Amino acid sequence: MYSSVIEKIEEEAEREGLPIVGRRKGKVLIDLIRRYKPKNILEIGTLIGYSAILMASNMKKGKLYTIELNELRAKKARENIERAMLNNKIEVLVGDAKQVIPKLNISFDMLFIDAEKSEYFTYLKLAEEKLKKGAIVVADNVKMAESRMIDYLTYVRNSKSYKSLTIDFGYDAMEISFKLF
Ligand SMILES: C[S@@+](CC[C@H](N)C(=O)[O-])C[C@H]1O[C@@H](n2cnc3c(N)ncnc32)[C@H](O)[C@@H]1O
Repeated sequence: MYSSVIEKIEEEAEREGLPIVGRRKGKVLIDLIRRYKPKNILEIGTLIGYSAILMASNMKKGKLYTIELNELRAKKARENIERAMLNNKIEVLVGDAKQVIPKLNISFDMLFIDAEKSEYFTYLKLAEEKLKKGAIVVADNVKMAESRMIDYLTYVRNSKSYKSLTIDFGYDAMEISFKLF
């Protein structure tokens, strides 16, 4: 069921030039979820639900919370999530992540950051106290938008609190950081 929704979103993204994470990077998210089995996931940057659907459909238990600033996109994401029959697994939160994150009273095992590139460090610092020991933090576009997230990359690559690695796809890269304590 979810795969036909994924294919439809891919077609729409191609047509409209929407910046979805896509298959190759999506596979990294899926592999991490299958391997580490995170219960609660926080995503920052829903767009129309592509990465949320990919991730949630590979979660055995728990819930994915995803934050989207743009109301129209959040509405489309909810429609796609409903079509994928994942409403019980995904909660779309509408608003600016900088305002929404502090209101969440939930502990997370995984964080996927894919919103405003210059704000990655701010999102992480706001979410950090809600991340469990061993939590996985994935950041997209760390090669394409490197100059806008130097603060974020310097932090996760040098902080003793994280063990961080970069997955290079040539045209772009993802940063995977494990919160050690
Ligand atoms: C690259 S897209 C997300 C793509 C999505 N993760 C996927 O792969 O399907 C980035 C999204 O982040 C949203 N965004 C930007 N700044 C935000 C903020 N401060 N809070 C929440 N969402 C934000 C944008 O409206 C946009 O829809």
